[in-house]
Amino acid sequence: MKRALFLAIMFFCSLFDTNAQTSSIPKLIKIGHYTQLLVNNKPYLILGGELGNSSASSNDYMRPVWSKLKQMNLNTLIAPVYWELMEPVEGDFDFSLVDSLIEDARLNHMKLVLLWFGSWKNSMSCYVPAWVKTDTKRFPRVLNKKGIPLEILTPFNKNNLETDKDAFVRLMQHLKQIDSKQYTVIAVQVENEIGMLDNARSYDEAANAAFSQPIPKELIHYLQKNKLNLTPELDSIWAIAGFKTSGNWEDIFGKGLATDEIFMAWNYSKYVNEIAAAGKAIYDLPMYVNTALNRAGWEPGQYPSGGPEPHLRDIWKAGSPAIDMLAPDIYFPNFRHWTDLYTRSCAPLFIPEIRFEKDDAAKAFFAFGHYNCLSFSPFSIESTLHPEDEPIGKAYNILRQISPLISKYQPEGDVNGFLLSKDSAYQTITMGEYRLIIKHDYTLPWSSGSRDGKWPLGGCTIIEVSPNEFYIAGTGVVVTFATTTTGKRAGILSLDEGSFENGKWVPGRRMNGDQDNQGRDIRIPINQWDIQRVKLYQY
Ligand code: DGJ
Repeated sequence: MKRALFLAIMFFCSLFDTNAQTSSIPKLIKIGHYTQLLVNNKPYLILGGELGNSSASSNDYMRPVWSKLKQMNLNTLIAPVYWELMEPVEGDFDFSLVDSLIEDARLNHMKLVLLWFGSWKNSMSCYVPAWVKTDTKRFPRVLNKKGIPLEILTPFNKNNLETDKDAFVRLMQHLKQIDSKQYTVIAVQVENEIGMLDNARSYDEAANAAFSQPIPKELIHYLQKNKLNLTPELDSIWAIAGFKTSGNWEDIFGKGLATDEIFMAWNYSKYVNEIAAAGKAIYDLPMYVNTALNRAGWEPGQYPSGGPEPHLRDIWKAGSPAIDMLAPDIYFPNFRHWTDLYTRSCAPLFIPEIRFEKDDAAKAFFAFGHYNCLSFSPFSIESTLHPEDEPIGKAYNILRQISPLISKYQPEGDVNGFLLSKDSAYQTITMGEYRLIIKHDYTLPWSSGSRDGKWPLGGCTIIEVSPNEFYIAGTGVVVTFATTTTGKRAGILSLDEGSFENGKWVPGRRMNGDQDNQGRDIRIPINQWDIQRVKLYQY
């Protein structure tokens, strides 16, 4: 009854929703090599947070969460849809949790990215319905090398695939029915952190049979067509085995764990592709898969083997064209290492999960400025007890204001981002006619920060809006300017702090004295978050 009422209200509202008449389905578009996510026909940067796994299973639990998210200035919540709760009895669907999420997101003026916790969640099949879990004959599992079944549905089985696909299609039908006017849901993640554990590949009967078969022509064609642009990781594996184009998996890639992993990646990606393609045929939202990153020194199988790891990019691209993006979940400290890997070949950066910590604010300024970043999203975002104090909330407040500028100037190459740490405290870049030196705040002799202890990260986004005019937004940075013209020096004509209100710059304090070191540099100290507009001149 409640649901019928909800659907009726949603339909009624959509008739009078002015946005609805002008908006179209969220989509990814390309401007040259640059990818934009369009929401309501405008470029959209996800200033997000992902819920802890269990939070969205209870409306009571969720009730106090929304105000926290608002206090942290999120524009998007990334939230799970649990197959087991959506289809508790085969063929009987209950969308009430999804409806509540959508209803609450709308009330709070937020968008949603939904995570399909279907066949796999962190490798395991813990969110499949009980009627799937308990019927291992109909829904078979992977086997490890010792022949022991794991709680992981095998991707080598049609029943597993079709049953997951049916449920996913029903979800997409439902989203289309209730959301295709307002587009509260802007993207969908298919499955969660896929990958085989214990061993690099499954040893179930169907897997063994497939492993000895000739490698699919489709994959060979992809390798041949993209031979000059393969990741160096895959290229060297194929090269060592002699760039063969026919034979089974071990003929083409050699014997070993790397080949076992490639084999799993292909079969996982094909499985996911069918699910995503069937969902898109109903309702064509952007879709991505996320990755539990491979820990240095670990073997495939110790980490989830065959997931969309950076070294498996080509296999996933070949196997799952319906998937728009491969996305890293970043829980390791070497942020830049992973973001560089995931943005090879001009791929956009979509971070659905990152460890929730104080340094995220600086990373967000860097990510949106430096990369073609579409999403930033700390995990278990609702777990904070002090949302009003969270640095990511302060960063989002600023990023929200400058998002239109980033989207406007980034495709032209006039935006950059910087991440400063104790080990990497100085960076330089040329933007237009100026050479910028960007330093960590603690490099200043008079900065209040500790010289000996741990340094918080500093980070900023810098946007050149005209030849002598820059916006600098961030935390914990100092920026100085030189010119690229021989014999000329750069001077600060004016420096203002300020904010954007309804897209218009509203200046606050003029800062041409102590605040800019009497015209020498621009500074946003650690523990402050600011936007400053600087006008330069040359003398
Ligand atoms: C990554 C997974 O994708 C999440 O669902 C969650 O399990 C986190 N890890 C926990 O750190």
